[in-house]
Amino acid sequence: MKSVLKLYFTGFRKSIVYLLLLITLFICIDSSQAIDRFELGKIINTIPPNGPFWKYGNVVMRRKTKKAGMSPVVFSHWSHRQHYTCRVCHVDLAMSMRSGDTGITRADYTSGKYCGACHDGRVAFSVKESTNCDRCHMKEKELQDLENQFNAFASRLPLTNFGNGINWSDCLSNGLIKPVKSISSANIPMSLPDKLRNPMKLGTATARSDVSFSHEDHFAEMDCSNCHPDIFSIKKKGTEDFSMDRNIFGNFCGACHMLVAFPMNDCKRCHTSMSNISGV
Ligand code: HEC
Ligand code: HEC
Ligand code: HEC
Ligand code: HEC
Ligand code: HEC
Ligand code: HEC
Repeated sequence: MKSVLKLYFTGFRKSIVYLLLLITLFICIDSSQAIDRFELGKIINTIPPNGPFWKYGNVVMRRKTKKAGMSPVVFSHWSHRQHYTCRVCHVDLAMSMRSGDTGITRADYTSGKYCGACHDGRVAFSVKESTNCDRCHMKEKELQDLENQFNAFASRLPLTNFGNGINWSDCLSNGLIKPVKSISSANIPMSLPDKLRNPMKLGTATARSDVSFSHEDHFAEMDCSNCHPDIFSIKKKGTEDFSMDRNIFGNFCGACHMLVAFPMNDCKRCHTSMSNISGV
């Protein structure tokens, strides 16, 4: 009886050892995947849903208007970026890429700054005509008009599932839009240094580091100062804590790719080896 028990226990102990070994092996093999799945889940849960295409990239300005009893101003990126590159407003006209930061006042734009640089009655409708106030200070009717205008505009452009639902990169490379790089001869942009022509790999330690960044594509619409030094360090891999989380909360790539350029939901446009699992 004793020997039977002993045999039973050694067998039992052995099987526990085997079981532990198996578990360890399983964890080792599966750990990369398990972490990825956890990370992916977390990322997908953090990303806000897309919202209506026509509203993506619209900036609602109400800080000053509220006090003055005027309707808020709705500035739409989609209607302006077809005519002008980002640098026209965000470099030449000194408008900030953080909403509310510029602090535009009526006195500013009636003297030709910011919106007033173009809305002068020649390039675009004037800020001084009393019949034009509602075209920027929008009420229900004007908002409806803006949505209709968007639908007509977008219907002839290449589609995507996110952001404005418009593939702006394709629009640009196919010449469907031809935004000007400057509105004054005093501000001709420099050309891109040759050493920045090749796309650079953005490598972190993670298994999914398949993201590359093209200076050439971005420079087509933006200047160095739109990214350096505020958003990115100019030293390769100098940008600290470059995680997807921080991106989603509007840092780094997310400073544009959550607000105006195609949003983070569109995984595969940056992670070329990923599919878009997040849905709309
Ligand atoms: C091209 C667009 C545009 C047009 C046209 C326009 N505004 Fe404005 N207006 C703005 C913007 C932008 C602001 C700043 C909004 C904010 O941050 O609250 C503003 C702010 C204001 C303010 C807030 C007080 C202040 O000093 O800034 C008043 C009042 C105002 N506008 C009146 C008018 C009137 C009256 C008209 C028509 C004669 C008009 N606006 C036409 C864009 C426009
Ligand atoms: C016609 C002028 C104009 C053009 C062109 C333009 N922007 Fe803007 N952008 C603005 C204004 C005005 C604001 C709001 C600034 C403020 O509130 O102080 C803004 C805000 C932003 C913001 C912050 C938005 C938010 O919701 O917080 C981002 C990001 C941005 N722009 C990126 C871009 C990019 C990228 C391009 C080129 C594809 C571009 N802009 C082209 C005028 C422009
Ligand atoms: C670099 C030139 C430029 C600047 C700066 C600019 N706009 Fe415009 N905007 C245009 C042009 C061009 C149009 C289209 C022509 C027209 O309708 O007269 C336009 C059209 C608009 C429209 C009509 C509806 C639409 O979206 O098509 C609104 C509203 C508007 N702009 C608001 C603004 C506000 C607010 C600002 C400042 C925060 C601003 N714009 C700055 C050039 C500019
Ligand atoms: C849209 C954003 C953006 C614009 C615009 C931009 N850069 Fe960069 N740049 C980056 C990013 C992202 C990195 C990588 C940062 C990192 O790895 O930490 C980078 C890295 C660099 C580096 C280091 C490259 C290396 O191989 O060591 C240099 C130099 C640089 N940029 C110069 C420029 C110049 C000059 C311009 C204008 C012609 C410019 N950048 C425009 C985003 C931008
Ligand atoms: C200052 C604004 C800005 C920043 C910061 C920025 N981008 Fe972009 N990016 C754009 C704009 C604008 C486009 C044109 C496409 C669009 O608007 O949807 C673009 C296009 C792209 C494209 C081309 C997609 C295609 O289908 O051809 C890729 C890839 C891309 N960005 C990746 C990145 C990555 C990765 C980062 C961070 C390292 C980054 N971008 C940071 C503004 C920005
Ligand atoms: C605008 C470009 C862009 C888009 C869109 C984008 N990513 Fe990323 N992602 C990055 C960059 C940049 C990094 C950090 C650099 C690296 O790891 O190569 C990153 C890192 C990651 C990582 C590594 C872990 C981490 O936190 O650093 C995962 C996982 C990831 N992304 C998943 C996703 C998923 C899922 C989506 C779509 C829902 C997505 N990404 C959309 C640019 C993007």
